[in-house]
Amino acid sequence: MKTLLIKNSWVVNADKSFHADIRIREGIIEKIENEIIGRPGDQVIDAEGKWVIPGGIDPHVHLNLPTLASPSSDDFYTGSRAALAGGTTTLIDFVTPHRRESLLKALKSRKNEAKNCLTNLYFHMGITCMNESIADEMRHCVRDEGIFSFKTYLAYKESIGISYEELYKVMQIAAELDAIVAVHCEDGEQVSINQQRLKSEGRLSPGYHAISRPAELETRAVESVIKMVEATKCRVYIVHVSAGDSVNMIMKAQKKGLPVFAETCPHYLLFSDEVYKRPDEEVLRFIMSPPIRGEADRCRLWEGISDKIIDVISTDHCPFNLRGQKDIGIRDFTRIPNGTGSIENRLSLIFTYGVLQKRITPEHWVGLVSAAPARIFGMSARKGSIDEGKDADLIIWNPDYTREISAQAQLQRCDHTIYEGLTLQGWPDVVIRNGLII
Ligand code: URP
Ligand code: ZN
Repeated sequence: MKTLLIKNSWVVNADKSFHADIRIREGIIEKIENEIIGRPGDQVIDAEGKWVIPGGIDPHVHLNLPTLASPSSDDFYTGSRAALAGGTTTLIDFVTPHRRESLLKALKSRKNEAKNCLTNLYFHMGITCMNESIADEMRHCVRDEGIFSFKTYLAYKESIGISYEELYKVMQIAAELDAIVAVHCEDGEQVSINQQRLKSEGRLSPGYHAISRPAELETRAVESVIKMVEATKCRVYIVHVSAGDSVNMIMKAQKKGLPVFAETCPHYLLFSDEVYKRPDEEVLRFIMSPPIRGEADRCRLWEGISDKIIDVISTDHCPFNLRGQKDIGIRDFTRIPNGTGSIENRLSLIFTYGVLQKRITPEHWVGLVSAAPARIFGMSARKGSIDEGKDADLIIWNPDYTREISAQAQLQRCDHTIYEGLTLQGWPDVVIRNGLII
């Protein structure tokens, strides 16, 4: 393997930024020094005027997610290709076993589906019911399969969701294994009650999706999970936080020293619930769970990021086409597949709306999209920063390049994007994964 030398880098890590040259050999960052003299045969890249950042880590994506409306529109190949183009070199997807399926059997078939993935890839193991044999399999996942995170849903009662009692047991076992539990916090019982009520009243248009899942159902679930953290001492990661009151709740828990981590996603930071006043066809695009919240929540999420209560910005990438997938539920919101996508644009969206709008520093940006997910999910010995000895997953970032998002030009596979027409600044010039220019 050839040696790669990046000259004149402005390295941006989550803790500091500095000028350096970087030598990469056999997939590893071998040397970082003020000046490294090239050797014959080295491949040299001049990064003058650009930034060099660690490859993005997106710890929450659903590629090829099976649903009643057919799988999410990006598979492991198209989704990972889009991720790489936008500067994400590592993904964490999910194994979602059926309720009576063995975790290890589901892991094997998920790995098979993911064979054509172009990024580094890890999995969270979904727990969709809890009993003694699942507990044994959880132990096996940690000890023999290198899986250190479990995903649970308090939402989706009728399919993959579990009860609070089951979650408590999952957290007890995870604590014993020093694993982390990611929780989708929405009170699924109450969501089902709301859905049935709206249905019986004939309120079925897409906008009622948001009415059926108000912010307090998220915050109530966050509160219960935090109580269980106090009792079990289990580390938890609250996925896609959307509500301001949830941020407040998480802040209090963190102040008490409880191991509660949190993520949000670009769509909760860029849109407000005004989107649900658009025509039904448009509203379909914004059907995700939890739904987009009010303006005050959106502002509180940005504050939660600035105050480092929210650790990570992931995408929850789970797109569905409008035609043939989302539109299945145009007359019954409960049938609309939930999810949206931004795997390709995450780094650039947060650079544009976070760094350039001075809400966060460049270092904090790197923390949110790479260093924090590496730390929380046990990868920081190898990933999440540009340091000697770490994996050579890095991005030469052009902070000046501007581009307009359009469904037509995007690599992620979907017939629309909620960010259509938005002009973003900042984009990868060169993407390097495991020392290879992708
Ligand atoms: O609407 C969403 N978020 N769809 C993806 C699955 C999930 O709930 O994370
Ligand atoms: Zn998700």
